[in-house]
Amino acid sequence: MSTENLFFHQHRVPRNLKEERNNHKSRVLWFTGLSGSGKSTIANATEKLLFDEGFQTYILDGDNVRMGLNKDLGFSPEHRTENIRRITEVAKLFADSGSLVLTAFISPYLEDRLQAREIIGQEDFIEIYIKADLSVCESRDPKGLYKKARAGEIKGFTGIDAPYEAPKNPELIIESDKYDVDTCAEKIVDFLIRKNIINK
Ligand code: ADX
Repeated sequence: MSTENLFFHQHRVPRNLKEERNNHKSRVLWFTGLSGSGKSTIANATEKLLFDEGFQTYILDGDNVRMGLNKDLGFSPEHRTENIRRITEVAKLFADSGSLVLTAFISPYLEDRLQAREIIGQEDFIEIYIKADLSVCESRDPKGLYKKARAGEIKGFTGIDAPYEAPKNPELIIESDKYDVDTCAEKIVDFLIRKNIINK
């Protein structure tokens, strides 16, 4: 679709005024990792810590977004790419509204995450690799989906018969099979403080 007859509006209340009033920067914390690695749980624990300090936050979460905005999408490579493209645009809007946005999607393809980084912008995009061995994720199996995938009831399940391309150079690696959820969340908050994104 052409954008030639569209005109981008500059708004009278730009993002920097929102960041100033919030007293913190807005960023996209892009969690990526296998199903069962702890993305949503750690994103939730991180959001709670940030929210309790008075920061403006929002979580975009795989299963929730797939029940609404992206309910027309499945798990083929093309649909996953479109899933991530839409989420990228939504995350960018939330960042523009002054929020610290936490996205929790497998986002298995390097290329899709690179595209997200480009669209959102290098400075605003913080890739957080929630790293856990497949064997650990599979033994946790919180939704019983690995069991179904092994039984052939789900085809193209990430880590079983669909790829997960681990980040090569993420801003942060959180080894969720070594630390408990609260420690993981604290590591993320410490990173944000170190980078002067928030002050506590
Ligand atoms: S992504 O690959 O497009 O980034 P997304 O994070 O939105 O995936 O959704 C992943 C969630 O969908 C998983 O946590 C799991 O609950 C569910 N799911 C259902 N089918 C699959 C599948 N084939 N592969 C991975 N996750 C699946």
